[in-house]
Amino acid sequence: MGIAQEYAEYATMCERAMEHVKTSIYDYLAEIELTGARSPIDSVESRVKSYESIREKCQKKKIRFTIDNIRNNIHDVAGIRIVTLFEDDIFKVAEAIKTRLRLNTIIIKDYVSEPKDNGYRSLHLLVQRELYFNGQTSTVSVEIQIRSKAMDLWASIEHGISYKGNNVTPEIKNQFKELANFLAQFDANAITLRDSTNTN
Ligand code: GTP
Ligand code: MG
Repeated sequence: MGIAQEYAEYATMCERAMEHVKTSIYDYLAEIELTGARSPIDSVESRVKSYESIREKCQKKKIRFTIDNIRNNIHDVAGIRIVTLFEDDIFKVAEAIKTRLRLNTIIIKDYVSEPKDNGYRSLHLLVQRELYFNGQTSTVSVEIQIRSKAMDLWASIEHGISYKGNNVTPEIKNQFKELANFLAQFDANAITLRDSTNTN
């Protein structure tokens, strides 16, 4: 079997794992809706990496383009992005996901408590799911990024300008950091405002 077909099969498995995780997220939201409380989630998006972008990622990581390398080194073939209104909703949502999916969920990176040097903030979880496919069982990962709308705004702008490897001057880097600090302050103020109005 060629790599294109192998990847198509693997991507299908990742997609199934991702749909399972999304169902748990929607179950959680349905439960909250029944209580009449405000939803902690503003939007949920997901995607499976295309063959082209997985090939580029192998190149970037300097690993040979084989299905075993993809399985072992690339954990975001399936990715879900959850955007919240408030910063503290991020941890509420992460807890809910962990409770529902139990031991299969780990926090891999908490860039909310400890932002990256460039200012990037988000909570990254990895869900590992065992799947039966074509006569055998194997484990696939789903990456979940949880971030506030302000964090998402920053990441979208920064992604377009520097994450993809454009030449970014120290001055521009500084400005991104300032923007990130500004938005972190915004997130903190929004929570204070919400709490002062006694909503949840
Ligand atoms: P990748 O090889 O890019 O997946 O990074 P990684 O495996 O070291 O993991 P990390 O948790 O740092 O990044 C995972 C994903 O988070 C990336 O694919 C991006 O979607 C997002 N991300 C991480 N860092 C940044 C950043 O500095 N800027 C933006 N815009 N997105 C980021
Ligand atoms: Mg990644």
